[in-house]
Amino acid sequence: MTIRLNSEISNYIQLSDKRYSYFSGNNYLGLSNHPEIKKAAKKSIDRYGLNFAAARQTTGTSEIHLELEKEISDFKNKEDAVVFASGYMANSILLHALKDRYTTIFTDEAAHPSIIDGIPRNTKQIHFFKHCDVQHLEDLLHQNKNKQALIITDGIFALTGEISPLNEIHPLADKYGAILVVDDAHATGVLGENGKGTPEYFHLQDAANIYQTETMSKAFGVYGGFISASKEIVSRIRENSRAYLASTSLPPPIVSAACTSVKIVRQQPQLRPALYKKANEIREGVIKLGFHTNEGPTPIIPIFFSSRDKARKLSGYLKENGIIVPCINYPVNMDKFIVRITVSVNHTRDQIEDLLVLLKQWRSKHGVT
Ligand SMILES: Cc1ncc(COP(=O)(O)O)c(C=O)c1O
Repeated sequence: MTIRLNSEISNYIQLSDKRYSYFSGNNYLGLSNHPEIKKAAKKSIDRYGLNFAAARQTTGTSEIHLELEKEISDFKNKEDAVVFASGYMANSILLHALKDRYTTIFTDEAAHPSIIDGIPRNTKQIHFFKHCDVQHLEDLLHQNKNKQALIITDGIFALTGEISPLNEIHPLADKYGAILVVDDAHATGVLGENGKGTPEYFHLQDAANIYQTETMSKAFGVYGGFISASKEIVSRIRENSRAYLASTSLPPPIVSAACTSVKIVRQQPQLRPALYKKANEIREGVIKLGFHTNEGPTPIIPIFFSSRDKARKLSGYLKENGIIVPCINYPVNMDKFIVRITVSVNHTRDQIEDLLVLLKQWRSKHGVT
């Protein structure tokens, strides 16, 4: 399904002259059109314009970049933080910054493309473990036990909504002296008591050998990537990262919007239980109807199909009836076709009921596989 947005996204969108209920994208906390965040962006344009038009280490660093980095490091309870142009760049930036600490990378076979693309070209060995298969990871680590290992995985998998089993992976990292990197693009703001992501969800937020790569483009509703870590790692990035040093700094309205968004996420922890409740209602409904999906608390609820055609037809049927849920075409290693429902904290009970009613009607006509 290709749609051409011509409105802001919230729990509804406007396409041409019709309004649709919207269960797509990654606007989990409903912040992408939050009035205070929009106001911060507008004010920032008036004061600073659209672009500082320079890289951070030349003349592109402003007081608001530093304010955002301070806000993020406080939120994450880390010594320092660095922001840059996109979440996609974060894995590359971090893997390069850690380069002298590992020789061999272990990653999930369904890792996000930004993980695969972020692996430095001169990495000696890369091993793919079967999706979320901790035993397979251990076998590979054991076979390579004399190597300096770095394990990297998505925190929440973008398409399937599964949470990587860090509670089992982290003990392996300890056992084999490995660094563990978690791409928490979908988990920051969503998982953990304070929204600090997958490590916090598993009570591992203080583990010294875990690093996260994060984005402001999903739960925060804004844009731009970030890494929060020790002063030493952040300084390494600032001083040596080619991607950081040679790209234009984040634009002022984005920086100011992100700063307000991080504050809101910190001040409103109640958004997360409210989000889980809605996600749970949909997930339970989908399971009750007999569709194939995954369990868990995340706001990504996939419906799996073995046929692309059937997945597309379901997505098309929902659209004809006023609901946008895309059939996903995305460059991740997957053997299934996915109709990906994503939940926002702003979805109403009526919207959720309408979605489940349509899924039921579809199931009665076409079955579930
Ligand atoms: C797991 C994962 N990592 C990284 C990214 C890239 O983040 P961004 O879209 O903010 O560049 C995405 C999102 O698209 C993602 O799903």
